[in-house]
Amino acid sequence: MSEPLGIALIGCGTVGTGVARLLLEQAERLAARAGRPLVLRHIIVRNPHKERPLPWPQERYTSDLSVALKDPEVQLAVEVVGGVEWAREADLKVLAAGKDLVTANKALLALHGAEVFDAARKHHRSVAFEASVAGGVPIIAALTQSLAANQIRSIQGILNGTCNFILTSMYEQGVSYAAALAEAQRLGYAEADPTLDVDGTDAAHKLAILAQIAFGFTVPVESIERRGIAQIEDVDIKYARELGYQIKLLAESWLHDNQVAMHVSPVLLRLLAPLALVRGAYNAVHVVGDAVGDTLYYGKGAGQMPTASSVVADIIDMAVGRAQRTFNTLRLWSNNGAHFQLRPPGTVRSRFYLRVLVEDQPGVLADVAQVLARHHISIASVIQHEVPDEHEGERVQMVILTHTALTGQFRAAASEINQLRCVMAPSVFYPVAD
Ligand SMILES: NC(=O)c1ccc[n+]([C@@H]2O[C@H](COP(=O)([O-])OP(=O)(O)OC[C@H]3O[C@@H](n4cnc5c(N)ncnc54)[C@H](OP(=O)(O)O)[C@@H]3O)[C@@H](O)[C@H]2O)c1
Repeated sequence: MSEPLGIALIGCGTVGTGVARLLLEQAERLAARAGRPLVLRHIIVRNPHKERPLPWPQERYTSDLSVALKDPEVQLAVEVVGGVEWAREADLKVLAAGKDLVTANKALLALHGAEVFDAARKHHRSVAFEASVAGGVPIIAALTQSLAANQIRSIQGILNGTCNFILTSMYEQGVSYAAALAEAQRLGYAEADPTLDVDGTDAAHKLAILAQIAFGFTVPVESIERRGIAQIEDVDIKYARELGYQIKLLAESWLHDNQVAMHVSPVLLRLLAPLALVRGAYNAVHVVGDAVGDTLYYGKGAGQMPTASSVVADIIDMAVGRAQRTFNTLRLWSNNGAHFQLRPPGTVRSRFYLRVLVEDQPGVLADVAQVLARHHISIASVIQHEVPDEHEGERVQMVILTHTALTGQFRAAASEINQLRCVMAPSVFYPVAD
């Protein structure tokens, strides 16, 4: 067997504990897969005095990264710290010290991928990051290796398990957003502060990484249009179901006329569409390649052992030298493949779901339809339930599914509809995927 691979683990929280557990408890199996022993030499944490459930002497936990960086027997560091600033500095130090890097930090890659990858190239080191998108689902390996013969046409992903858990509960149990979020927090699927999950930021970070691989396209995360799920009302879940759809938070990116369209948004999916069937905290990614056609990847997008599974796969890839070859050939975040441009969101064509709360008066549907028609948007179907006699003349929900329209025109129509005298509240709309 060849030389051992010495590893420094930076961060030993949820993911780090899983990684350490695999390295320490499955050493023989991993050595067989890697063709050499994988030896954990340092564990760096913020608080070295905290008790941890690992077969690792308490006195060997340290908060001092420099000892590992100076250790000539460490060839690889695994950064599973989270956050951006401290992690960024740590990763740059790791690379400058001549060590390869495995990371699960999607926020860091989405915001500072170019800097980290440039540093790796400068120091002739490599970076692997399978766990940064969709946790235990091997989507990075699929895109970088298995689908290498293809021009990727589109990526459509459920990339945030917290949001999918909440939307599944709303759909299946008919509960409100607030109740579903509270349940997600109770079960540990949502953080105490869930903002970055529910506002779509986390999914946008992951989408930026996938688009980098699929389209060689570096997009500033802030230019990815995103809407989260916090505004989704149970009434929209019910109307969507009535129309034969389910609402999912999708991160989508697709190639059209040499431009890449990207967004994170709640989208209505047909009830039997493969991604509509993804329940609870699971993740899934639907990738279409020009040669392969449709492919689908599914699994646990977070959690200790699923994420550790991907991190340790990267460590093994580093140990056998595969990750280095992939890293060198792909030239990610290098402006190498920047021949695509970001498609302006207003020029994207889509069908739309539109819900408007209107006065229950004659002519109201005609008023709304006229605005849509002026913006060249045609109606595919309408739902307006009869109002009980005692409430006649009050207010009523009108739900419209449109045919395909330009997003810009649809948005202009929606804001004009909001100005109509018969409209009682700002209209609600979501794209529909067909
Ligand atoms: N959790 C998941 O399911 C999941 C899935 C995919 C990707 N990820 C990514 O994996 C990374 C780690 O996530 P996590 O959930 O494992 O985080 P976590 O449970 O909060 O653990 C973070 C670890 O980093 C250590 N740390 C934080 N700041 C430090 C500092 N300044 N110096 C030294 N150590 C420091 C902490 O030390 P102490 O223990 O002493 O506080 C802790 O051990 C993140 O980038 C996350 O986005 C997580």
